[in-house]
Amino acid sequence: MLKKLIAGNWKMNLDYQGVDALMDDLVEQLSPETLERADIAICPPALYLSRALERAQQAEISLGAQDCADQDNGAYTGQVSAAMLADAGCSYVIVGHSERREYNGESNAAVKAKAQKAIAHVLTPIICVGESDAQRAAGQAEAVVGQQLKESLPDNAEQGSDIVIAYEPVWAIGTGNVASEDDVQAMHAFIYKQLSERFDDPENVRILYGGSMKPENAAGLLALPHVDGGLIGGASLKAESFLSIASCA
Ligand code: 13P
Repeated sequence: MLKKLIAGNWKMNLDYQGVDALMDDLVEQLSPETLERADIAICPPALYLSRALERAQQAEISLGAQDCADQDNGAYTGQVSAAMLADAGCSYVIVGHSERREYNGESNAAVKAKAQKAIAHVLTPIICVGESDAQRAAGQAEAVVGQQLKESLPDNAEQGSDIVIAYEPVWAIGTGNVASEDDVQAMHAFIYKQLSERFDDPENVRILYGGSMKPENAAGLLALPHVDGGLIGGASLKAESFLSIASCA
């Protein structure tokens, strides 16, 4: 069985003081038992990666970024490359989060290009997919996620362990409306099936669930087949709730 991955996406939150306080709490509260059961990662804003690095290493927490450029270097004002993130101590990078797809117009092709740059620089891309509420209501959830997977999976992923998939139904993100266990189980089984067509070893691809995951619902979600961890937004901004989710792994 895969070791679960519990990853916190801090989004555009906190300041230096808040980062220091949260990292202090994580160092103090993360137990060896939790670390044995789950890999823990945090994805701070790019500017705070260096600020978090030393304490993350101390606590055996991996660092991830929230996005990377789809180019190696050059005249791309405001962008951060996968190589720079690797330099900054990252092991993971989230690509194709629905907030970037929506607010920054990121296409599946762009997400794929970013994931390929991540792999080229020895980062593990956490590739996000997920349908909107209108798409689910229209019975298109699997078609949408299937298309996103087909068009966003990197060509240079040689084995399943090179990537992580995060299923994040858009309507469950930041809303408190967690997807039902039945819906999560069905979609994760569907994603696994799609991955089986691409990889010889699909069982090595971790498929995370994200969207209003909290201490109260984490145990049930993390026990479902093909749910190999969580991508946690709001609840990752407090050590107590983040580690309480991790302890359910
Ligand atoms: P919430 O946990 O705040 O719903 O956010 C989920 C998410 O978007 C993680 O990437």
